[in-house]
Parts: sequence; C-alpha cells; structure tokens
Amino acid sequence: MARRSSVAGLDIGTTKVCAVVGEVDEDGDVHIVGAGSVPSSGMRRGVIVDLQSTARAIEEATDRAERMAGTSITTAFVAVSGEHITSSDSRGVVAVARGDHEIAEADVTRVVDAARMAALPASDREIIHLLPRDFVVDGQDGVKRPVGMYGTRLEVEAHIVTGVATALANVAKCAQLAGVEVAEMVLEPLASAEAVLTPSERDIGVILVDIGGGTTSIGVFANGGLCHVAILPVAGAHITNDIAVGMRTPMTEAEKLKVRWGAASPMAVSEGEMIEVFNVGGREPRVMPRRILAEFIEPRLDEIFSLVQAQIRRSGYTHRVPAGVVVTGGTALLDGLIEHAEVRLGLPARLGAPDQITGLVETVRSPAFSTGVGLALFGARGRTRAGAAQRNGTSSFWDRTRAWVRDLLQGG
Ligand SMILES: Nc1ncnc2c1ncn2[C@@H]1O[C@H](COP(=O)(O)OP(=O)(O)OP(=O)(O)O)[C@@H](O)[C@H]1O
Ligand SMILES: [Mg+2]
Repeated sequence: MARRSSVAGLDIGTTKVCAVVGEVDEDGDVHIVGAGSVPSSGMRRGVIVDLQSTARAIEEATDRAERMAGTSITTAFVAVSGEHITSSDSRGVVAVARGDHEIAEADVTRVVDAARMAALPASDREIIHLLPRDFVVDGQDGVKRPVGMYGTRLEVEAHIVTGVATALANVAKCAQLAGVEVAEMVLEPLASAEAVLTPSERDIGVILVDIGGGTTSIGVFANGGLCHVAILPVAGAHITNDIAVGMRTPMTEAEKLKVRWGAASPMAVSEGEMIEVFNVGGREPRVMPRRILAEFIEPRLDEIFSLVQAQIRRSGYTHRVPAGVVVTGGTALLDGLIEHAEVRLGLPARLGAPDQITGLVETVRSPAFSTGVGLALFGARGRTRAGAAQRNGTSSFWDRTRAWVRDLLQGG
C-alpha cells in the first residue's frame, strides 16, 4: 500500500470551529478523511475574546475529526483573521557578484531577506507571510524561477502580510490549550483560496471574498500571487442581528429564518410568498411576506459589497481581475447572493466551495468549510514539496521562508 501521511487544518471561525484531516498520498493528492465542526462564540470579528471556550470548541472539533479519521491531531495549520491584519508590497534588490554571475538558491534567499528588511513591521506586529510574486533579473521582469539564470542584479517583488502579535499569540495559545501545536499560521483568505480557486483563475487575476459570520475577508490574486488583503468586521451575524431587531424576533429564530427563507434582494422574491415568524416572548406566530425578510437583508449586504468594492479599488487591481470574484464562506449560500454580488461589484461572480477534493467529500463541500479544507491543502502542498521546516511544527519564520523559496524553485 502507498505510504500516506496526514495533515490537519484548524479554522477558528466566529460562528464555528472546524477541524479537517487530510491524507496525502505519494503523488501529493489530498484525501479528506476527517472533519469536525462545532459552534463557537469565543471570537468577535475574527479575534479571540474568550480563550477557554474557544479552546473547548477546538478540542471538540478536533476530537470529532480524529475519531472520523482514526488518527490523532497533534499539529495543525491554523487560520488567522481579524481587522488587525494588513498587507503591503515590498521589494528586495541584491547584486550577484560572483565570477560566473549564475544565480544560486542562496541569492534568492538573500533577495527575499532584503525584501523583508525593507518592510520590517512595527514592533507590536508580526509577519504572517512573505510571498514573493515576481523576480526581476537585470531589469527583466516576469521571471518565476531565477536560479540557474545569468544576471548581475536580482530583484524580488513580494507581498507581506502582518498582524498584531498579541492577537496571533492568542490563536496559538488557544490551540495549545486544546492540545494542538500550530504548524503554521495561514491567512484565512489564502487558505480558502487554496480550496476554491482554480489555477487558471489565479493566473489571469481573481478576487476571493469569504463572507463568514463575523468577518468578510478579501484576497486579490493577480500578477502571479497575492496582491491585496483586507478583513472587514461585517458579515452574516450582522444580517441575523438586523433581522432579529427589524422583525422583533429572537436571534435563534432570525438565524433560522435567514437560512431557510432569506434572499439577497426583495426583487428576487415573488410577491405572494408568505412565511411564519415567531415573536420575542413566544406569542402566536405572525404570517408575513417573505419579501419583508429580504428587505432587512439587502441593506447590510449592500454595505458589505460597498466595503468590498472600496477595497478592490484601493488595491488598484479593478481592471486586472478578468476572472472576477469568487464568493465563499457560509453567507455565500444566501439565496441570490451571487447575482447580487455581480450587480453590486460590477464583476462576474461565482460561488466557491471545496468541491474538487476526494475523500469524505459530502461533509466538507459547503462554502463554510473552504478555510478548513484549504488549510489541509495548504499544509499538504508544503509537505510534499517544501518538506521539513513545516513538518516539525517548530519552524521559525526564516525556515518557513526558505521552505517557501525552495518550493518556488522546485516548480511552485
Ligand atoms: N444557507 C444559508 N443562507 C444564508 N446564510 C447562511 C447559510 N448557511 C450559513 N449561513 C451563514 O453563514 C455564517 C457562517 O459562515 P462561516 O461558517 O463561513 O463563518 P465563520 O467561519 O464561523 O466566521 P468568520 O469567518 O467570519 O470568522 C453565519 O452567519 C450563517 O448564518
Ligand atoms: Mg470563516
């Protein structure tokens, strides 16, 4: 039988914690063999506010995934999110001074070093990712694999993602309290992208929008990699809240109504459709037009999409994303949301879900699992190609960067 290793992803979301176990075969293909998802409320807008309850949810989710997979989860790739996360471009330049001017792996490491030094974050922040996008050899851009080429001057164009150190430390602590070591922290939209974007979408330029419970995260992929990131503190839970207030119904009932009967726009609901709504205090249910529910949903969605659009404009890539927008996250399931996104963003849109995987496909096919599945895929990719640094779970930033560079050199 082929040798297999397992890799785990841990998505600590605002509404749920989800653990996913993947088995990586000899060819590097990932089969999902375990998944566990439990509701959680220890997080606000993507940042942990209750260590103990979040840790308990992690324990329960990993427990379920472990039982299904028949393995134990000791280390995991963990998603990070929150408004505190920002990103920026950076450049590094080095001279290739040796006699033959043949670019070596060490030169690539040096130039990535230089890009990092050029963008050192403030002392309260930490680098989550340093993602080289493009190399330039003697002024010639668009070089993907510079090693072995001749040149005297090597430049790299990289994207650097940073977050507040304490917020990141709390994520690690929560995982540790639940008995899970962090193999690597992965930016949430980068993980989701792994599960839902196609290589050709990434090639031509695409925007990933993950609308979850407490956050909407945006990743712009163009020019060979990630170009812009933003995490907005508005998402599905705000819609539920608006429904509860507007329709004077308890939160649990508002959530049920949204999921069962919600629609992105009143225009998409036929006039005569009626729904039953339970009141706060448990009096007799009222019968109301379904359209009214959509009237409470649309303004919040419009707010979300106008914030998303502002970020797309800010990125400067509005006209460089021909593949349009891929929308994922639990809220993407809202009836008519994709059509609404197209109209509001003025870009083609499709629903993104982890549907290209094998294994226990059915349980993780939902867009709410994009991050969890993406984490396992991200981890597996590192394992099969970049190896050791990520494997031992104690890699330093530099080990990880070197692993990344090696990855790139081997045909990433
Ligand atoms: N069918 C549906 N229609 C509308 N909304 C839905 C549906 N299914 C789930 N949702 C909403 O999706 C949200 C949860 O999505 P998701 O699981 O992606 O969030 P999360 O990962 O926990 O949170 P975050 O990523 O913001 O930290 C909830 O607000 C839920 O109401
Ligand atoms: Mg999420």
